[in-house]
Amino acid sequence: MRLTVLTLFPDLIEQVINESITGRARAAGLFSLKTIQIRDFAVNRYGKVDDACYGGGTGMLMMAEPVYQAWLAARAETPDLPVRTIHLSPRGKLFSQDMARELAASERPLVLLCGHYEGIDQRVLDEIVDDELSIGDYVLTGGELAACVVIDALLRLVPGVLPAEEAYTRESHMDGLLEYPQYTRPAVWHDRKVPDVLMSGHQAKIERWQSSQAALETLRRRPDLARKRPLDEAEWADMLARRREEVTGQR
Ligand SMILES: C[S@@+](CC[C@H](N)C(=O)[O-])C[C@H]1O[C@@H](n2cnc3c(N)ncnc32)[C@H](O)[C@@H]1O
Repeated sequence: MRLTVLTLFPDLIEQVINESITGRARAAGLFSLKTIQIRDFAVNRYGKVDDACYGGGTGMLMMAEPVYQAWLAARAETPDLPVRTIHLSPRGKLFSQDMARELAASERPLVLLCGHYEGIDQRVLDEIVDDELSIGDYVLTGGELAACVVIDALLRLVPGVLPAEEAYTRESHMDGLLEYPQYTRPAVWHDRKVPDVLMSGHQAKIERWQSSQAALETLRRRPDLARKRPLDEAEWADMLARRREEVTGQR
C-alpha cells in the first residue's frame, strides 16, 4: 500500500503513524507513507498558501495552485499508476469499516488531501479529487486527524500489520455486528466474575456465546446497525436464550 498525505502539518501525521502498531508496520516496510508539505509550493517566497474568500466571510481559504502543485508532486511519485485522491472534508461521505476495507484493497496509490482554515478552493477539488470522506458530523480545525483516522483504519486491514487475521476479522463492524464483551485476568475483579462459559474450555460453546452476545450488544447499543444486518433464525434463538439466562441470573 502506498499512501501520500498532502498537508500543511506533516509532523502531525508522522507523529501519529510512527507510534505503536502502525509505526512497527512502517518500519517493517508493510506500507509506504510520504507526507508532502503544501507550503513548499507556496505562491510567494513568504510561504503564502491561503487568501480571503470571494464573497466575504472571516476565514482564509487554501489557494488552488499550491494544492495542485503538491498533488502533481504526489502523482509524480508513481508515474505508471493513476492515484486515487481523497479529500478529508466534513461534507464528505461518512467513513465506515466497509470503506476502509475497500480502500485497503485498492491497487491505486492513495493521496489524502487535508484542508485547513476555511478549507480549499473548490476549483482544485473539482480537478483532482476522486472521493470526499468525513469522519463524522462535526468540524475539525484541519484534515490531519481525519487522515490519521482513515490511515489507521485501513492499515489494520493490510496483511501482516496485525499479528493474525483473526485480530481484525472478528471485530466490531467487520460482519455488521458490534463485538461481544471481552475479559482478561483476574477471573474475579471487584466481585465481578468472568462468564463461566469463557473458562469452560469448550470452544464451540464459547463461539456460540460470543456470537449471541455480539447480536445482543448490537441490538442494545445500535439498533440502526441491527436493522442493516438481520439475524438468521439460529442467531435469534441463541441470542434469546442468552438474554433469558441474563434475566434469570444464570450464565
Ligand atoms: C475548519 S474545516 C473547514 C470546514 C468548512 N468550512 C465547512 O464548513 O465545511 C478545515 C478542514 O478540516 C478538515 N475537516 C474538518 N472536519 C472534518 C471531518 N468531519 N471529516 C474530515 N475532515 C474534516 C477538512 O479537511 C477541512 O478542509
